[in-house]
Amino acid sequence: MTGNEWDRVPIDSQSIGAPLSRAAVFLTLTVAEGDEALQAVCDALDGLDDLIKTVGFRDLNGRLSCIAAIGSVFWDRFGLGKRPSELRPFEPIQGGVHKAPATPGDLFFHIRSDRPDLCFEFEHLLLAELGNHVTVVDEVTGFRYFDSRDLLGFVDGTANPTGRDIGGATLVGDEDSDFAGGSYLVVQKYLHEMQGWGELSKDEQERVIGREIVSGVELPDATSGQKSHKTLATIVDEAGEEHDILRDNMPFGRPGHGEYGTYFIGYSRRLWVIQKMLERMFVGDPPGKHDRILDFSTAHTGVVFFAPAPRMLAALVQAVQGKSD
Ligand code: HEM
Repeated sequence: MTGNEWDRVPIDSQSIGAPLSRAAVFLTLTVAEGDEALQAVCDALDGLDDLIKTVGFRDLNGRLSCIAAIGSVFWDRFGLGKRPSELRPFEPIQGGVHKAPATPGDLFFHIRSDRPDLCFEFEHLLLAELGNHVTVVDEVTGFRYFDSRDLLGFVDGTANPTGRDIGGATLVGDEDSDFAGGSYLVVQKYLHEMQGWGELSKDEQERVIGREIVSGVELPDATSGQKSHKTLATIVDEAGEEHDILRDNMPFGRPGHGEYGTYFIGYSRRLWVIQKMLERMFVGDPPGKHDRILDFSTAHTGVVFFAPAPRMLAALVQAVQGKSD
């Protein structure tokens, strides 16, 4: 790749629409109390684009990208005086059978590349810079599994918006103009119960998900009774408008430890859309008919973040650094 081809490569931070990659690291951190830790975080955020270039330039075909996102409680420590209108901590959900817990997280980094070693190198350098000012509360290394399948065997991501639709579904617009170009994101780490899932027939598995397993073709939506995952996760508002989100889920696992998982990550222009999906999955529609994917998948984490557009990220850093000048 030549220097002119930089244009086609997401080499700066906050590229929500960067192509889904073959590898990713999902890194959740908490930040220590005090000004020194806040300053260290700001220095790292300020240097994010440079770090992406430093690592990513070593192989542009690896398409390294990183999105930094900020949790609700931590947001206020920047002292900016304003916040994204929907930003708030993850609301835990207690369904009749399954629950979606809320877990800690001040900062989140979604590191993507087609090369796991680029993700590794970037994470290593980033954490070295942040030092003991942060604590890693969750670190998951995901991989693309064949044709973007989850470990349950289904192609995952088919219904994602594409092209120009990505921005409309994921980026805040004029409705909250100070934060336009940013995106809410929700993450959850799921662990699968593979044996039980494997004991279902292929037809049953397809009814749980709502798509054919080999082709990915949609099955008809049930209008009453038990609904599939696909149907429960489809959100249509009162005006009849369907609200998409962008998912960049990835499998992860350690067969030697019996660990098989899906890391769920959803970007949305509106946080309520993802919250509504979760309610429909965990409580059920009608209530009691929860998403059967949860009988074989347990949520171990749940955190909400806001990924600011580059200009807003710079404003947050400036709010802190301006004070210390
Ligand atoms: C164990 C975790 C999960 C797995 C393995 C999983 C897997 C899948 C699969 C295989 C599909 C069908 C293909 C596709 O359209 O991408 C799908 C669709 C979808 N999932 Fe999930 N999913 C999980 C959790 C979630 C969660 C937590 C949410 C939202 C909060 C969600 C939202 C969606 C949406 C919006 C669709 C597309 C529905 C449509 O057809 O419009 N998923 N998921």
